[in-house]
Amino acid sequence: MKFFKLFEPLKINNMTISNRIVMPAINLNYANDGFITQKLIDFYVERAKGGAAMLIVGGCYIDLYAKGHPMMISIENDKYLPMLTELTKAVHNARSDVKVCCQLYHGGAYTYPQIIGRAPIAPSAVYSKFSKATPREMTLDDIKNEQQAFVEATLRAKKAGFDAVEICANAGYLMDQFLSPLKNKRTDEYGGVLENRIRFPIETIELMRSSAEDFNIGYRISGDDFVPGSNTYKEKAIIAEILGKHLDYLNVTGGWHVTKTPQTTMDVPEGCYTYLAENIKKHVSIPVFASNRINIPELAENILMAGKADAICMGRTLIADPYLPIKAKRGELRDIMNCVGCNQGCFDSIFKLSSVTCLRNARAGNEARTELKPLKEKKKVMVIGSGPGGLEAARVAAMRGHDVHIFEKEDKIGGLINIIWVPPGRNEFKRMIENYTYWIQKYGITVHLQEKVNLDKIKEYNPDVVFVATGSKPILPPITGIDRGNVYWANLVFSGDAPIGKNSVIIGGGATGIELAIYLAKYGALSREAFDFLTFYKALEPDVALNMLHGARNKVTVLEQLPKLGSALGKTTKWVMLDKCDALGIKMLTSVNVTEIGQNYVSYMDANDTEQVINDVDMVYYATGVKPNDNLYSELKELGTYSVVKIGDAKKPETVMEAVSRGYKVGNSI
Ligand SMILES: Cc1cc2nc3c(=O)[nH]c(=O)nc-3n(C[C@H](O)[C@H](O)[C@H](O)COP(=O)(O)O)c2cc1C
Repeated sequence: MKFFKLFEPLKINNMTISNRIVMPAINLNYANDGFITQKLIDFYVERAKGGAAMLIVGGCYIDLYAKGHPMMISIENDKYLPMLTELTKAVHNARSDVKVCCQLYHGGAYTYPQIIGRAPIAPSAVYSKFSKATPREMTLDDIKNEQQAFVEATLRAKKAGFDAVEICANAGYLMDQFLSPLKNKRTDEYGGVLENRIRFPIETIELMRSSAEDFNIGYRISGDDFVPGSNTYKEKAIIAEILGKHLDYLNVTGGWHVTKTPQTTMDVPEGCYTYLAENIKKHVSIPVFASNRINIPELAENILMAGKADAICMGRTLIADPYLPIKAKRGELRDIMNCVGCNQGCFDSIFKLSSVTCLRNARAGNEARTELKPLKEKKKVMVIGSGPGGLEAARVAAMRGHDVHIFEKEDKIGGLINIIWVPPGRNEFKRMIENYTYWIQKYGITVHLQEKVNLDKIKEYNPDVVFVATGSKPILPPITGIDRGNVYWANLVFSGDAPIGKNSVIIGGGATGIELAIYLAKYGALSREAFDFLTFYKALEPDVALNMLHGARNKVTVLEQLPKLGSALGKTTKWVMLDKCDALGIKMLTSVNVTEIGQNYVSYMDANDTEQVINDVDMVYYATGVKPNDNLYSELKELGTYSVVKIGDAKKPETVMEAVSRGYKVGNSI
């Protein structure tokens, strides 16, 4: 594919960015007490080397009232200047034409009282579902103080060597709170009609502008708050038109954190929210950035070519592959390790107060300590099993120059990945298989499919090292009737090896059980393509077609022993999945113990220890966990002839992210 637009420079006020790929602000949780750390510098240096035109660092909190997270970067006073300067120097030294922008953050009502040790401040004392607190209404002095904090932070950013600042005014933060009739109930000159509600942002920008002349000021705006009663894309276009006259660029993202419309999860179609940037672009004359789920350069080019935006924010996908821009420029598209939108290492991590990592990229946030080690002695490596851990270990070992041979008992590589991309909205995991298929060819890895390995085979092959990545097997719950003919392991549904029930019971409401419930409820639904086709030709009424697309077709009941469902699901994905279950009418029962699976029924003890029965059940599936499938490993250890390492579920049942991370370490260790 040819890129006509993606690598064109773009002039933004008095700076020119070298291409159209921007890394938006991502609070990585790498700062220490507000200070920039070496880990953070290493992260951005790698992204500078990778070819992105501009790196937006932050959010950086501008004062204590603004502080959203304990491990955020601070720009609240001069003691942070030396390390902020170290960062900009290191990034500019890594690539002279990269621009680095500082995102100025103020959470307003989103700020947690337990983090700042006092009540948060906001335009009005309106309860925030996000912080679970009611803020104190800002006095006129507070307004002046916060505006001054923005000004001082801007001056500090300029002094530290940043090329621009961006106001974090999206997602329902302080600026959005002033703009929203839902959050701004003031009766003075900062509340009421839009002209008043927009006063705080305009005054702030103008104060920043007059204090830091010739500096570039951008603004991140929610393209639609997606909150009933707040600003929609229509009002946001008017707001952008007014604000645009005071700014150098607008960075358009999706809705608020508290919206019930998913913004970043894997089921959000790629490029879904670019219409929001397009909507705003029609009303302003400054550059407009598009954002959210733009994971591949082909899509970025397409958005630019269609004139929907002037630059593209690629956030998580540059965590997954910092070298995406360079690879795209060279036409090495199959080599790009793009984000799959799982959120496990990034969003879900920061909600657990951990640092950002990445399911796809074991090096993210660990750049200095994970350089590929030079090869001391070329070894013959046998990798048994081609799930995520085995494939990653094979890739890394082969990249370093080892002679790597993968043995897979099935007729295709991927192992567990072939299961996890099947449920609705999980399709992007398939890209992992496409990547590894390419790397197998690129790094000269030999693959033996449909080969079951035993000790004799290993002796015949005589490797120097064996990586045992033989995966896991299901834990069979000790329930009367579990051996009946209509009872199947959940994963067999996803691999196409189990029939689909019309009225099913799923034992186990963890991540797999919930994925399965949605899959079964919707099994046989109209495809999106058919929906598109039939409604285009007006062959079917849109509401009937919509029901055929989204409605449930099968009855499903989930029985979970624990008091909560989806315990292994990350925060950002869990609510989306549970909302879907509700919409599909899936019955989900917690704190129950299944006692018997009978002919056409399942009985269980409910939370009150009363026996209940579900009748007319045609299929039962169990998703009650897995255990290591490590027999071969034990045999090899007993033999004692070879150097053997266990990876992935064969070591201990773990997430795909943990398997990839371990695979990287193992592949880099021999
Ligand atoms: C861990 C994490 C932290 C984020 N922190 C910020 C932030 O501080 N400011 C901001 O404007 N956006 C923040 N974002 C949102 C991203 O900038 C981006 O809009 C979002 O990830 C969607 O784009 P993507 O699909 O390209 O990743 C964050 C995203 C992640 C994953």
